[in-house]
Amino acid sequence: MSKQQFEHLWMPFTANRQFKSQPRLIKAAKGMYFTSEDDRQILDGTAGLWCVNAGHNHPKIVDAIQRQAATLDFAPTFQMAHPLAFEAATALAGITPKGLDRIFFCNDGSEGVDTALKMALAYHRVRGDAGRHRLIGRERGYHGVGFGGISVGGIAGNRKQFGPGLAGVDHLKHPLDIDRNAFSKGLPQHGAELANEFEQRLLALHDPSTIAALIVEPIQGSTGVIIPPRGYLQKIREICSKHGILLIFDEVITGFGRLGSAFAADYFDIKPDMIVLAKGLTNAAVPMGAVVCNTSIYDSFMQAAPPDAIEFFHGYTYSAHPLACAAAIASIEVYREENIFQAAADMASYFEAAAHQLRGLPHVKDVRNLGMVCGIELEPQVGKTTTRAFDVFHRCFWEKDLLIRTTGDIIALSPPLIISKAEIDCLFGRLAEAIREQAA
Ligand SMILES: Cc1ncc(COP(=O)(O)O)c(C=O)c1O
Repeated sequence: MSKQQFEHLWMPFTANRQFKSQPRLIKAAKGMYFTSEDDRQILDGTAGLWCVNAGHNHPKIVDAIQRQAATLDFAPTFQMAHPLAFEAATALAGITPKGLDRIFFCNDGSEGVDTALKMALAYHRVRGDAGRHRLIGRERGYHGVGFGGISVGGIAGNRKQFGPGLAGVDHLKHPLDIDRNAFSKGLPQHGAELANEFEQRLLALHDPSTIAALIVEPIQGSTGVIIPPRGYLQKIREICSKHGILLIFDEVITGFGRLGSAFAADYFDIKPDMIVLAKGLTNAAVPMGAVVCNTSIYDSFMQAAPPDAIEFFHGYTYSAHPLACAAAIASIEVYREENIFQAAADMASYFEAAAHQLRGLPHVKDVRNLGMVCGIELEPQVGKTTTRAFDVFHRCFWEKDLLIRTTGDIIALSPPLIISKAEIDCLFGRLAEAIREQAA
């Protein structure tokens, strides 16, 4: 590609000028591998962006999308519909936790988060409890880039350019505690008591009767794989239930097998009131998001409005887009037919052991993991945060044929769930080389 061809695209979450000076381009993908522009097979250590859980270009999903594109390109879902919209919702409801089976479709995780927040506020209102107008998130939470999502999210960089955001939002502390929990395998031992801060500080400050919902990622992915301490999420659930506060699990990353079960809600055996999904919902082949809510939330809306009235003034032109529905149905079938969630559960201990082999490498100050996700935190270079991990990322891509993801000085790995033991060895072997060479 010529230099001019890079001018027009303003890339998302990218250092545009740095990227365009040495573009990292992918032109194809299959299974566990990307093909780079210069024809190298790049092992995908990140499932794209935590989303291609069944591996790239799965033939069944490709076929479903191709057939659908030639049959029905688009149909509105405002006061109209097409059968696949209902089929996709039914397929999804077939794997969501019991009781969480009403589905609202959108196009990505950010829309899913904003949909869930609006649904929570409106739910209290339709029940005559409109005083519940506050939304609580967590520090270092990532909930996409809508105004709702950045407001309940807890990442300064994503908030500081955009004004005050939603009013009435507050945040819990995040539970990362490297001093006490470094190199934990699975759920960290220490920190469940941090959940009490919800009741003791935030509810005491705002009064529970003003709080509509708490939104949390079961694992905080984007800010560096923060695993909840043992018992923490259970306490969060108890506090929400005690005070009539809706609990929203943002499972955009943890949904569809990342922890070795369909959802983190299953893994932790906790029932949130709503789950936000995207990414793995279509194996990332077509953008799609969804909010799954419990039956009683849906029923409250239905009962509050006259029978011929719109119950929830919300939706997107592309809610339940036919191509996305076809991809979702096919993906859910693939997950089931190929037992992909169980494969992830079976591989998790091998993945964990391989990840913790990195302990002791130069500048590695923590390795943390759960299911098929792990974070490797590096000591930052003095006065230059992010540069060490970025250097490792760069080496991995150009010299090791490996795609990893970094955030700050943390490397996050979340390969497609079809990864083999040999590929896990390869992934961590190449990463170890890059970490050593960076330090040299
Ligand atoms: C937990 C979580 N929520 C929401 C989002 C936003 O999803 P999207 O980028 O599809 O809008 C992400 C994206 O990584 C995420 O990890």
